[in-house]
Amino acid sequence: MAGPVVAGKSDHWGSRFGFIMAAVGSSVGLGNLWRFPYIAGEMGGSAFILIYILCILIFGFPVLMAEYALGRYGQRSSIASIRKIVTENNKPIAWVGMGWLGAIASLLLFSFYIVISAWVFDFIPQAFLGEFGGFTAEQSGANFSETTSNKLEIFIYMAAFLGLNVFIVARGVRGGIEKAAEILMPAFFIMLLGLVAFAVFTGDAARTVSFLLTPDFSKVSFDTVMAAVGQAFFSLSVGSCVMFTYGAYLTRDTNIPKNATLVASADTFVALIAGFAIFPIVFAFALDPAEGPGLFFVTMPVAFGQLPGFVGGAFFTLALFAAFTSSISLLETGVSWLEDQKSIGRVKGALALGVIMLIMGTGYIFMPDMIDLASFLSGDLMLPLGGVLIGIFAGWVVPRSILASELGEGPLLNVALVLLRFVVPIAISIILVLGIYGKVTG
Ligand code: PFF
Repeated sequence: MAGPVVAGKSDHWGSRFGFIMAAVGSSVGLGNLWRFPYIAGEMGGSAFILIYILCILIFGFPVLMAEYALGRYGQRSSIASIRKIVTENNKPIAWVGMGWLGAIASLLLFSFYIVISAWVFDFIPQAFLGEFGGFTAEQSGANFSETTSNKLEIFIYMAAFLGLNVFIVARGVRGGIEKAAEILMPAFFIMLLGLVAFAVFTGDAARTVSFLLTPDFSKVSFDTVMAAVGQAFFSLSVGSCVMFTYGAYLTRDTNIPKNATLVASADTFVALIAGFAIFPIVFAFALDPAEGPGLFFVTMPVAFGQLPGFVGGAFFTLALFAAFTSSISLLETGVSWLEDQKSIGRVKGALALGVIMLIMGTGYIFMPDMIDLASFLSGDLMLPLGGVLIGIFAGWVVPRSILASELGEGPLLNVALVLLRFVVPIAISIILVLGIYGKVTG
């Protein structure tokens, strides 16, 4: 685990716009479009949303700033940056384990993210070809299980999606990730606004507003809080050193607090907007908002089946764009480390991880239940645990002067330090322990 401190990265974001598109692209993904609406729907809507926003502010935002700050200070992969920081400051080398946890979490997330993305991919031609026409809820459910059990087809879509990921990440940060995000994210936002306008004008907007914006606290339980914490970390892409990795490519003239605010606001905005694109249609067709993970793949096709094919086609294309800019950030976290190993490098590193991910992804195609386990381990456990560790590391181990040089002195730094030192580690540890206890005792 110990080892020499490697040289800093030579590649950097080409422009502020490029970085913002890549960082927002990492955050905005299936977490916003698929996971957020179904969890909010299951948890009763507005009360969950309010708690979720609090989790973003109190837990997600300070960890996001810390990840960018440590990444830019380190200028290396997260693992190599942590090694540099602990070596320079005579701190325990065991902290490098936090980087390993992040890399493992992001690759585990990536391994099933590409399978769900393959389902989305498969739904695009289905929607454009009008295959959802006249679907009842039962027919749509059958279509979803038929789609996911068509192993060869899903494998082909997954391999194509994975291949594109490997290609873009192998091209590097400025020439690959940034370029892809600069094209896909603006296209995503234009399509999203079009769909929302369509949903609000043709669907039941009034019920959506009351469902999403009138809190009913009788629905709040401990589960609600745990789900909100997990979703906040998953959606913002924090806790697995992904934003740490992106921070390493930041130039010194980038204002981290300002950019972190922009990323967190855009991510929250898209999650809420996704609710406004989905729920008016759900209510207009008298479907169930608490449908669960199937909300996206089962309920939406019922609605799309009554609309012109391009509406559903646009929706799933938009989801695929968002998924892609998130998945490349997950892959980059591993590749960034392999790139630091001079004997491997970026291209070979991307290819090697691509092969491992192809094998794991194929495993989920044959054993879809494993997706739940991988999602629980990575999303519900490793990300919040990573958040706790980053809070302790940034708050107690890293000298204040480093954070001050990255974030600037002032009240914001003081507030961030209180949150990182005390609030994040204590509150999230309690939530994790109680959550695990609840799971074990059923
Ligand atoms: N934030 C992404 C989404 O909302 O879909 C998923 C994700 C990306 C989670 C990167 C974690 C991560 F590190």
